Amino acid sequence: MTAHFIKTGLIGHPVSHSKSPLIHNYWIQKYGLSGTYTAIDLSCENLEAGIANLVAEGFGGFNVTVPHKVDVMSFCHTLDPLAKIVGAVNTVVVQNGKLHGTNTDVYGFVENIKENTPPHFSFSGGAALVLGAGGAARAVVQGLIEAGAPEILIANRTRANADLLLSTISQPEKIKIIDWSERQSQKTLANINFLVNTTALGMSGKAPLEMDLTHLPLSALVHDIVYAPLLTALLQNAKNRGNPIATGIGMLLHQARPAFHRWYGVMPEVDRKLTDMVLA
Ligand code: ATR
Repeated sequence: MTAHFIKTGLIGHPVSHSKSPLIHNYWIQKYGLSGTYTAIDLSCENLEAGIANLVAEGFGGFNVTVPHKVDVMSFCHTLDPLAKIVGAVNTVVVQNGKLHGTNTDVYGFVENIKENTPPHFSFSGGAALVLGAGGAARAVVQGLIEAGAPEILIANRTRANADLLLSTISQPEKIKIIDWSERQSQKTLANINFLVNTTALGMSGKAPLEMDLTHLPLSALVHDIVYAPLLTALLQNAKNRGNPIATGIGMLLHQARPAFHRWYGVMPEVDRKLTDMVLA
């Protein structure tokens, strides 16, 4: 039997830096499947025509990255509950010419933490502090709610953007919005169990993240969704003072798994070889 060739890919702008083609093509080969995954640069003006083109070309689905994760929702015929809660779509399945949107970033965030945390760590062990309130923060906050965090503090430069996040999230009563200037105060950090940076600050080429950890308990797990560099200044500081840390690369790897599963019918594994290739 000749397997059906399944075309998939990533739309975004820019996309040339993306590791997703490497990840998905590695799995296509590893599991002996028939298909290909390509990065497609689509500017905002070309989004609608570009998507129509993918459907016409018979794509089985595609990932969506910056800056289209919100705009793509208006072209989806259905959105699953998670995509609605997060308010962003990063994965689309095309079936009979119809687009079905979902969000696998929540899964990616939670799986990465589960895989990389010390055995005694539990999300339910105390409050979480989330830095940022953009698209990535929405997935992280929903992940924290699903993983059992009792309270989530959000510090964002523009407080109004953090307020917006509350309008879709599933348990807004768990969330407390604090001023950006309060993120490193003793009052904020004293009872924090989990600290995560969801802004792009600290990424290679971006401004540094200023975050003083003096008042953070040494047991708190520190995570950064930035993975270039892998050891961001935040993680390096946390590690130096003895906090457990989790890097961001696993979120990228794990968010890809349910997407691949939806398109190719195989739930792929993240193995050492793939991780090394992505980090190289
Ligand atoms: P993404 O979808 O990748 O999360 P985004 O939606 O543009 O990207 O969100 C970027 C986040 O980084 C926001 O929380 C943003 O804060 P604002 O809501 O105030 O814009 C935050 N951010 C970006 N530059 C920042 C800076 N120089 N200082 C503090 N926060 C910053």
